[in-house]
Amino acid sequence: SRPRRLIAGNWKMNGTGEALREIEAMAAAAGDLACDLVLCPPSTLVERAARLVRGTSLRIGAQDCHAQPAGAFTGDISAEMLVEAGASHVIVGHSERRMAYAEASALVAAKTRAAYRAGLVAIICVGETEAERDAGRALGVVAEQLAGSLPDDATAQNTAIAYEPVWAIGTGRVPAEEQIAEIHAAMRQGLLARFSTAGAEMRLLYGGSVKAGNAASIFAVPHVDGALVGGASLKAEDFLGIARAA
Ligand code: G3H
Repeated sequence: SRPRRLIAGNWKMNGTGEALREIEAMAAAAGDLACDLVLCPPSTLVERAARLVRGTSLRIGAQDCHAQPAGAFTGDISAEMLVEAGASHVIVGHSERRMAYAEASALVAAKTRAAYRAGLVAIICVGETEAERDAGRALGVVAEQLAGSLPDDATAQNTAIAYEPVWAIGTGRVPAEEQIAEIHAAMRQGLLARFSTAGAEMRLLYGGSVKAGNAASIFAVPHVDGALVGGASLKAEDFLGIARAA
């Protein structure tokens, strides 16, 4: 039996107050879905979004957190603060942060431990660049990021993994199904070896140019247990289209 699929939306640095109506529409439909639905707006909207979805099955997540609970870290937000704001999930190690802020896997693991400490579910992102894939290093890079970013106490309940090839993010270029299958099978194998049962049950999401039109074929790939969606999560209609294919 396969796990219930998880569809997570990442708004990145998009969305002001008026976008809350999209979240309201998502929340209204979430209860009828066969999958779990999480939406990660910018942190300025987390508290209002969480209030809006109260009593529905839509969950609200954040896009990053600091590894420490509090302190002199100007501009940062702790996992505890996100919980107080009403978040239940947090994305960590997104490639945009790995690249723009030089976040290495050790830091991603520290942020993930912070998420666990606060009671958040971590959505840990991994994925190779185009240059790494061209150099035949995709499997190696993903294995290395996975090994370095997951704490030893990761479980299927506190963690989901998102495989996002950097070259597929926001480009409309989706990998061939065999390419997704190869990486997801390798991730499953690595997780099984390290976490046994938890590794078998941990949900593996695919991310990168997922749309309502290609979602069903992506979800048909073995070991794809959901999606992390960027652009197509901004509008309720698009996001729900993907969720209905799950
Ligand atoms: O976190 C989401 C991903 O970076 C995918 O973004 O769906 O716009 O390609 P995208």
